[in-house]
Amino acid sequence: MTRYYHILNYGCQMNESDAEHYAGQLLDLGYTYTPDYHEADVIIINTCCVRESAEKKILGKIGEMKQVKRNHPGSVLCVTGCMAQEWGREMLKKYPQVDLLLGTAHVNSFSSILQNYLSSHDRQGLFDDLTVMPQEFEGSFVRKSSFAAWVPIMYGCNNFCTYCIVPYVRGRERSREPEAICREIRRAVSLGYREFTLLGQNVNSYGKDRGEKEAFARLLELVDAIPGVERIRYMTSHPRDMSEEVVRTIAQSRHVCRHFHIPVQSGSSRIMKAMNRGYDREKYLDLVRTIRKYVPDAVLSTDLIVGFPGETEEDFEDTLSLVREVCFDDAFTFIYSRRSGTPAAKMPDQVPDDVKKERLDRLMEVQNACSLERNKRLVGRTLPVMVEGPSRSNPEVMSGRTDGNNLVLWPKGETEPAPGSIVPVRIERAQTWLLKGRVE
Ligand code: SAH
Ligand code: SF4
Ligand code: F3S
Repeated sequence: MTRYYHILNYGCQMNESDAEHYAGQLLDLGYTYTPDYHEADVIIINTCCVRESAEKKILGKIGEMKQVKRNHPGSVLCVTGCMAQEWGREMLKKYPQVDLLLGTAHVNSFSSILQNYLSSHDRQGLFDDLTVMPQEFEGSFVRKSSFAAWVPIMYGCNNFCTYCIVPYVRGRERSREPEAICREIRRAVSLGYREFTLLGQNVNSYGKDRGEKEAFARLLELVDAIPGVERIRYMTSHPRDMSEEVVRTIAQSRHVCRHFHIPVQSGSSRIMKAMNRGYDREKYLDLVRTIRKYVPDAVLSTDLIVGFPGETEEDFEDTLSLVREVCFDDAFTFIYSRRSGTPAAKMPDQVPDDVKKERLDRLMEVQNACSLERNKRLVGRTLPVMVEGPSRSNPEVMSGRTDGNNLVLWPKGETEPAPGSIVPVRIERAQTWLLKGRVE
C-alpha cells in the first residue's frame, strides 16, 4: 500500500532547504508526495517564528490538523523548524495532535526519529541541543526546482540583532566543511542543476567559527571553479561583515551573480545602534560605494523594518532618505514585530500599530519608485536570462531571471526553452516588479 507525505513549509530559504531534506528522507523511507494533506500518512509543518503574523498562521494550521487527523487515523503530525525550537515541550502539552517535534539542529536525523515513533508511538521532541552540527546529509534530495538548488553552508547566527528571534532558535554559527559543500554541488550538477544559492543567516562570517579569515571569499572561488555551475547566489549577507575582499572576489568571478542583498534594516544610525547591527549609516553607504566601485552594474536589494521601538518620525525619514540615496533595485519591507525573549520586546516607546502601518505605506511608495527607475535603465539592453518555465498566469508567456534576479517575461516562441537554460532577452518594457522583452 502506498504511504503518502505532505510538507507545509513556512519561513525563509533555510526552511525551504530543510523541507527538501525532510522530503528526501521520506522518499528514502518509501513515502510518496501527495498535494492533499488530508490523505497524507505523515504531515510535516515546518515552522517560522520570525514575525507574529507567521506564528499565528501556523498555529491556525496546527489547530486544523486535529480534525484532519481524526479523519485519517494513524497519520503522524510532525512540527519542525523554528517554532518547534521556540516552543519546545510546551507544544506537545498544548497540542495533543502533535506527535513529533523536531528542533532545527536535527533536520537530518528525522528519518530515524520517525521510525522510532512508528514502532514505539511515544510522542516526543528532539530539540535541546543547538550546538550540534547537523549530520551531513547522505540521502536523496527532493528539490522543488529542476535546475536551482539551495545549499546550506552554515547554520545559526551569532549576531543577536535586538529585534530578532533567529539566534535563539537556530543556535550559534556552525560552518560546514568546504569539501562537503563542493561535493554536494558536484552531485547536484551531475543531476542537471545549474544555479546554486549558498545559504546561511550571515554568509560573510562563514568559517569564522573555525578561526578562518575570508573563508567565504575562498568558498566562492571553489564553487566558481566547479564545472557545470552556471550561477552562484548567496543569502544573507550582513553589511558589517561583507569585506572588500568578498566584493573583489565576486567582481572577478565568472559565475557569482552581480546581485548584492545587503539588509540595512533602518536608515537612522541611532536605530541601527539600538538594533545592534554593528554599522552606522556612513559605514553602510561606504559598503554601497565599494560594491559600485568593483561592480558598477550591481543590482542592490535590502531588508527594511519600520516601527522599531523608539523610532521617531525623524529616524523614519532617515530611512526614506537612505532608500532614495542608494536607490535599491528591490527591498523587502517589514513592520516591526515584537518577539518575546528578544531585547527589543522590552524596550520602551513601542510604536503604535497605525503609525507603523502608515510608515510602511510611505516606505513602499518610495521604494516602488526606485525599483521602477532602476528597471527602466535596463530597457534596450539584451540580458542573459535563466529560464524558469511558462508563466503561471499565462502559459504562452515564458518567465526567467536575470543575473541580478530581476523577473523577466517574454512571449514563447515556436520552441520552448528548457528550464535552467540561458537565453538572450532584449528588454522592451520596465515595470516596478518585472521586465518584459523578446528573445533575440
Ligand atoms: N539573517 C538574515 C535574515 C533574517 S530574517 C539577515 O540578517 O538579513 C529576514 C528579515 O526579517 C530580516 O532581515 C529583518 O528585516 C526581518 N525581521 C527579523 N526579525 C523581525 C521582527 N521581529 N520584526 C520584523 N521584521 C523582522
Ligand atoms: Fe537575525 Fe540579525 Fe542574525 Fe539576521 S543577522 S538572523 S537579523 S540576528
Ligand atoms: Fe523564520 Fe526560522 Fe527562517 S524564524 S525566517 S524560518 S530562520
